[in-house]
Amino acid sequence: MAADGTTTDYYGQFDQDWYLRHYYGCIAGQTVDQGNLLRFNLERYNSIFQSGEVKGRQLLDIGTGPSVHSIITASRHVDDVYLSDFAAQNRKVLIDWWKSDKTLIEKITEYVLKQETSSETVVERQTAMKGKVRAVLPIDVTMSIPLGSGSDVTQFDIITSSLCLEAAALTIDQYRTNAANVASLLKVGGHFILNGVLEQTWYRVGESKFACVWLSREDIESTFVSCGFDIKQFDVVKFKSEDEAYSDFHGYFVMHAIKI
Ligand SMILES: C[S@@+](CC[C@H](N)C(=O)[O-])C[C@H]1O[C@@H](n2cnc3c(N)ncnc32)[C@H](O)[C@@H]1O
Repeated sequence: MAADGTTTDYYGQFDQDWYLRHYYGCIAGQTVDQGNLLRFNLERYNSIFQSGEVKGRQLLDIGTGPSVHSIITASRHVDDVYLSDFAAQNRKVLIDWWKSDKTLIEKITEYVLKQETSSETVVERQTAMKGKVRAVLPIDVTMSIPLGSGSDVTQFDIITSSLCLEAAALTIDQYRTNAANVASLLKVGGHFILNGVLEQTWYRVGESKFACVWLSREDIESTFVSCGFDIKQFDVVKFKSEDEAYSDFHGYFVMHAIKI
């Protein structure tokens, strides 16, 4: 644990059940800001994928955690989905879901189905999502070959990532390295859809406070431009929150960029 009481121990201290329950148990979130962030992310993902411009054979979701919200809509626009995470306990949740009849994040799935004006049930959509998943991979975005030798596929048509790159960095230099490492997994002309938080230094998971790097919009945009991306869309919401029980973020964003 660091002097300020934060940790980066994802293997030892990231409580996957607490995380799912508190952040993905309902669409309203634990605080107004969290609920707004979740709805904003889901709505932007929906509009980016429903535009019809973002499609491809293989999609990699980076730092999936124990939740599958990133692929509820996205999985309909690709043939193969690869999920990934650093922490073994998160990968176990994903594998247990994928290999069984269980459902996860039902309320969130319901919300997305309504947004899509789909008549599918949660079970039908999640069964279709499972049918697209090809693997749940270990990943470490701080490594120059983030998937190691664990994947037959080394470059993807689409990458999505939610709240991961900033969580895997404590400095802007590390964030830039993470972005460059992740960029190497995308084909030229491939789409990168990234969502994250602005100006956050920590977030809560159970008893633990996880540290992350403080980022401005300019930090993120300049990082991806320098990694060779053309940023097509960068939507931001900034605010001043008084509620700091779960994190200290002061904004959030969704970016759609193409690797050039
Ligand atoms: C805040 S959670 C986000 C989870 C999920 N994507 C979401 O949107 O809720 C951060 C995730 O990043 C993962 N992570 C932390 N360090 C990582 C690393 N070096 N490489 C890849 N993933 C990492 C964690 O295991 C965790 O699942």
